[in-house]
Amino acid sequence: MKQMQRVSVRPRGRENYEIEIGANALDSVGRVARHTLAPHARRIVVVSNARVFSLYGAGVVRDLRAAGFNISHWLMGEGERHKNLRTAERALAFFSACKLERTDAVVALGGGVVGDLAGFAAAVYLRGIPFLQVPTTLLAQIDASVGGKTAVNTRDGKNLIGAFHQPRAVVISTETLSTLPPRELTAGWCEAIKQGAVGSRRLFEQTRRFLIAERMNETARSLERTHGRADELAGLIAAQCSFKAKIVADDEREDVGRTDARSRRILNFGHTAAHALEAITRYRRFRHGEAVGYGMLVAAEISQRLGMLDASELESLRVCVRLAGRLPRADDLDERALLRSIASDKKSVGGHVRWVLLERIGRARIVSGEQIPPRVVRCALRAALAANSGDKSEGN
Ligand SMILES: NC(=O)c1ccc[n+]([C@@H]2O[C@H](COP(=O)([O-])OP(=O)(O)OC[C@H]3O[C@@H](n4cnc5c(N)ncnc54)[C@H](O)[C@@H]3O)[C@@H](O)[C@H]2O)c1
Ligand SMILES: [Zn+2]
Repeated sequence: MKQMQRVSVRPRGRENYEIEIGANALDSVGRVARHTLAPHARRIVVVSNARVFSLYGAGVVRDLRAAGFNISHWLMGEGERHKNLRTAERALAFFSACKLERTDAVVALGGGVVGDLAGFAAAVYLRGIPFLQVPTTLLAQIDASVGGKTAVNTRDGKNLIGAFHQPRAVVISTETLSTLPPRELTAGWCEAIKQGAVGSRRLFEQTRRFLIAERMNETARSLERTHGRADELAGLIAAQCSFKAKIVADDEREDVGRTDARSRRILNFGHTAAHALEAITRYRRFRHGEAVGYGMLVAAEISQRLGMLDASELESLRVCVRLAGRLPRADDLDERALLRSIASDKKSVGGHVRWVLLERIGRARIVSGEQIPPRVVRCALRAALAANSGDKSEGN
């Protein structure tokens, strides 16, 4: 019997909830729903997409039915472009058709796209009904499902309409990662490295150690087939969730005035350049996490050039990003277009980009773009984008 890990999330002024993590955690969805929903909750709508539902839907539905719920499922299209108001409206119409009541619930089964959309629909239906997250991508497990942000995209940008709505529980089955495409894993690992880099050296090391062992086991290909490491993976995901939960509990709504080393804003490490990389390639070349892989290197190169970060720390980060997997090339991109896009980053405050830089692995510092000479940003960008693009080694 594999061990189950538990992480408590304590959002300020809101009810606590638990994240349960284990190799076979999908078998616990019914129990968790029974335990966390009101005793008279009867109906649940499982929101997913066709790919994920075909893999894991039947088991989850069976488990929820066995726990006494009346289950319907609603599948959205696959991919970011479906995370919009039109899809949300269709989900809401389905909830109405199922006569979901205020104490009934929504279960989001899928990656961050499904989680954000289902969470948003649950947040606005009847002004908010309970929902459970069952994330099935690494990124959603360590990042998107923790923190209560739900959103849809508009034509003007990503996540522009949304709500804070905390789930009643999060159930994470590491087994689901065995079917995840390698690029999605790489993207998730980059966000995991990010959380370690700004969170603690210990978390960074734990992530790095796991990745080293993973690369040594490459022939086994999938995470779950790497014998006996399921508990280690669950432990790592628990540590990652616990870090994110702590940051979020302290700064749920991302106070723009905060610039300290524990504000939610530090989670944007690597995101300033990442958003620019995604934007100038029209969101077609990189998975978001892959762009964050490069973005972290850009921020760390800047930190080192400003004399904040030791060269050996920069090197550790470089090595770790390489362990996450091969990134699409980036050394052919138009540098000027990238710099322009960085300057217009939507997370800027008062017209200035706020860079999340590193003092060391495990400690971030927020620095206004005004304080960084443009030459430093340019050189850092060049160095970072060349770093992994040059790595054409086989094996991932
Ligand atoms: N709410 C937050 O705090 C937060 C944080 C980070 C990201 N996000 C959002 O998350 C989204 C990205 O999430 P994502 O990276 O999980 O992408 P995603 O949801 O698009 O999933 C990636 C792909 O993997 C497939 N998939 C999912 N689980 C699978 C499995 N177990 N096996 C095989 N295939 C599987 C999906 O169908 C999809 O094609 C973005 O919309 C982003 O804005 C939200
Ligand atoms: Zn991100």
